[in-house]
Formats: sequence, C-alpha cells, structure tokens
Amino acid sequence: MKFICMVNILNTHRYKITYFKKLDSTNSYALKNISLLSDRDVILADIQTAGRGRFNRNWISDTENNLYMSIVLKPSQKTDNKYPMANLTQYISVALCNILENYGVKAEIKWPNDVFVNNKKIAGILAQSSIQGEDLKGFVLGLGVNLNLKQEKVDQIDQPATSLNLVLGQSIDKNLFTEKILNEFFKNYEKFLKNGFSYIKKDYLSRSNFIGKKITVCSSQSKIKGTAKEIKEDGTLILLTENNQEKIIAVGDIFYL
Ligand code: BTN
Repeated sequence: MKFICMVNILNTHRYKITYFKKLDSTNSYALKNISLLSDRDVILADIQTAGRGRFNRNWISDTENNLYMSIVLKPSQKTDNKYPMANLTQYISVALCNILENYGVKAEIKWPNDVFVNNKKIAGILAQSSIQGEDLKGFVLGLGVNLNLKQEKVDQIDQPATSLNLVLGQSIDKNLFTEKILNEFFKNYEKFLKNGFSYIKKDYLSRSNFIGKKITVCSSQSKIKGTAKEIKEDGTLILLTENNQEKIIAVGDIFYL
C-alpha cells in the first residue's frame, strides 16, 4: 500500500516523499520506477522484505521505526566528476555525521561511506545508477540508519553494529530524524554538485577514522593490504601497499588489520 505523505514545498529543498508500509527494497523500487520518478523524490518504507547492502549483502530491515530510505537524483548539469556515485555516498555520510552530532553523538566515517558510532556501524549507504543505452536515467541513493533496533537484533548483525536508541538510551522519533537528514542533505546539495568531493573534503576528513591505519581493501576482484595514506580531491583513497607503492582505490571496502 502506498501513501504520498508529504510534499515539502515550504523551503528551497523541494523534495517529495512517497511512503510505503512494506517494500522489497526502497532502492529496488526506485530503480524499477526510475522513469516515473523525479529528481528529489524520496522513497520510504516501514519495512523491507529484501533490503540490500553493498556487495549484495543482506540489510536487516524487518523492524519498523528504523530508517529505510532511497533518494532519487537526476542532476541536470554535466560535470567532469569521475566518481559521482561514490562522491554522493561520501556527501550523505558527512550529512549523517552532522545529524548524529546534533543528537550529541560523535560519529566517524570509514572509507568510503560507512558511519560508525563507538566503533560500531550505525548506518549503511548504497548508491546505484540506472543507465539505459548511453543515457543515465538517474541515481538512487539508499540510506539505512539503525534508529530503534533492539539489542537482540543488533547482535544478529554479522559485524559490530549499534543503533541510535541504544547509544542514547531512549527511542528515536523516526519522522523527525528523516526530516533532519533530508534537510541537511539538500541544504548544500547544489553546491556539492557544482564542486564535487572537494566541497566536503575537510568535513569528511575531520570524521575519518582510517587515515594512517593498516588496512585491507577488498573489492569484488581483489584484496590489497597496506596503510591508508590520504584521500584525494576526488574522494579516492591512496593506499601505501606493503611494497611501498601508492595505489589509488576508487571502489572497495576497508577492514582494519
Ligand atoms: C551497506 O552498508 O552495505 C549499505 C546498506 C544500505 C541499506 C539501505 S536501506 C534503504 C535502501 N534500500 C536497500 O535495499 N538498501 C538501502
């Protein structure tokens, strides 16, 4: 069952939320319906039956009052940005850190976009694009935030994880949190589109917890060990490998050694 619940026309952010009680995945819905959806359409679901994470992992989505959301983006202007999707995920990770800090919680980013609180993952971001032929139909930026998970649920997650209610010791108003993150996201979105990753680099680095650490970078093709040296102006990671070579990493997941 679908409800169009809010058209935010009172401010310059102009996003439209379509809300579902249940979906397989807000990202899948947005990708399937990309031609019918507009720039800044937001898909929300109370529950996802097939929530997906990066590298085709499962994303636990059977708890209401948790945030499962996808933002449809169809930027009109052409940019020379080489990594628009990766940079969008980095942009929303910074927006999310800002909101968590509003709640009095210190948040950290693990490259490229995982948001951690107390060294435990609190949110996941999955960006996908829809391309038909040569045409880019749009991006879908999915965000899942653990807002109100019970400890038993958190314990089922296959990596150290947490939920905002557990950190703060009180339940979290999902609607308020959703409004805050969307307003934060769209507040500087135009400037970010114009300037790319360099617009957020300082804020991204001030939350980063991986620079100087020994890591393994895993992608679908490879695993490389080294030290996280630096983030470039385009958001890619410079890894100093064990043979002292610099490798530029654009896609992957990092694990601390
Ligand atoms: C990850 O860290 O692996 C990314 C998880 C992304 C989960 C969100 S929940 C809303 C949207 N719909 C999905 O199926 N996935 C994303």
